[in-house]
Amino acid sequence: MRSKTLFEEAKRHIPGGVNSPVRAFEPNPFFVKEAKGARIYDVDGKEYIDYVMGYGPLLFGHANERIINRVKEAVERGTLYGAPTEEEVELARRIKKFYPSIEMVRLVNSGTEATMHAIRLARGFTGRRKIIKFEGCFHGSHDSVLVKAGSGALTFGIPSSSGVLEDTARHTLVSRYNDISLTEEIARRNGDDLAAIIVEPVMANSGLIPPDIEFLRGLRSIADELGCVLIFDEVVTGFRLSPGGAQEYYGVKADLTTLGKVLGGGFPIAAFGGREEIMRNISPSGRIYQAGTFSGNPVSVAAALAVTEMINEGIYSYLRDYGKKLVSAIRDIIDDRNLKATVNHVESMFQIFFTDRVRTYEEALSSDLKKFRAYFMKMLEKGIFIPPSQFETCFISTAHSDEEMKITIEALDEALKIV
Ligand SMILES: Cc1ncc(COP(=O)(O)O)c(C=O)c1O
Repeated sequence: MRSKTLFEEAKRHIPGGVNSPVRAFEPNPFFVKEAKGARIYDVDGKEYIDYVMGYGPLLFGHANERIINRVKEAVERGTLYGAPTEEEVELARRIKKFYPSIEMVRLVNSGTEATMHAIRLARGFTGRRKIIKFEGCFHGSHDSVLVKAGSGALTFGIPSSSGVLEDTARHTLVSRYNDISLTEEIARRNGDDLAAIIVEPVMANSGLIPPDIEFLRGLRSIADELGCVLIFDEVVTGFRLSPGGAQEYYGVKADLTTLGKVLGGGFPIAAFGGREEIMRNISPSGRIYQAGTFSGNPVSVAAALAVTEMINEGIYSYLRDYGKKLVSAIRDIIDDRNLKATVNHVESMFQIFFTDRVRTYEEALSSDLKKFRAYFMKMLEKGIFIPPSQFETCFISTAHSDEEMKITIEALDEALKIV
């Protein structure tokens, strides 16, 4: 097994053998040789149908020809200029068109950068220090958001990673997702010093938890009333739920939006944008500093231009149908076998939990992780790659066809027999 040998070797050079923790699992992750469409191939010659899809970016599948061709043309013209290009302006124009709440936008390289800068901007703009985040939402790996609820009282956050200062974490207040009254209480208590509320409009980092629409509307009202900045972290939902992401899908507007993943179609690019009154405070036009050597690089921008063209081509009904059919087949299997399992689903995202129902983070935690592990391993054996963690989400792409659907359902039928 070449993957096994490579993993042992990798662990000698790279912490945990991987460059992002979610990729590691026991006994060893498979090492990838190549991927095309909905399929991924490992170094041992095994083929998998992929529902990880790079953890969300690959809305058009692996190695999509239009994206790859655009990028090839761009690479030939140079990969980094340190000076602006017409293509960046065109991409900004397109992002604004898809997201009416975005009046100005800045490109960065990762979702982590996007949320980090959006939070700094909110603090600089309001002159306030505190932010509210929600237990179970993930906004990347920077200090202000690597925070969880302190034990007992859901007030000041405590670091969720060693190395994050308590002094930093205590400016992040942690509330409960889909609980508007608790959020309102925390927000009011800190109103004078509350810079921002940051939320995943669909929680996609604790498995998959859809929002109550009233929760999202409630956040909008709280932000309006208290004069804080509402940040929708659409790094996952952006361009995935609809051309205008969760904001179009649920009809609630944010003050600032972070985008990433799908925007680059597999290339590293992200963005944050929103009301002009806020955005114009960023350097060099304002006093809130933000910069990046690779920001708006021509290669990632070319990929994003291809993506934003394909977004226009009515892909969402295809993704919706595939999602509905697959999830209804999963529900049938669960019902026929009377399993203690449930599946959450929003458009082209879904996740199975081994518990009765999941509408909150606490309910997600109640899922039987041993069963999830058995299900994951069986799916892998059957040639279906889903995220190894219960607390991730499966993603469908336009490259998933009837053929993939059929094979996936057969594998699910087997995998759910053993749980
Ligand atoms: C909602 C959300 N925000 C931000 C991030 C961070 O993005 P990146 O991994 O590109 O830094 C992620 C990553 O999974 C995410 O899911």
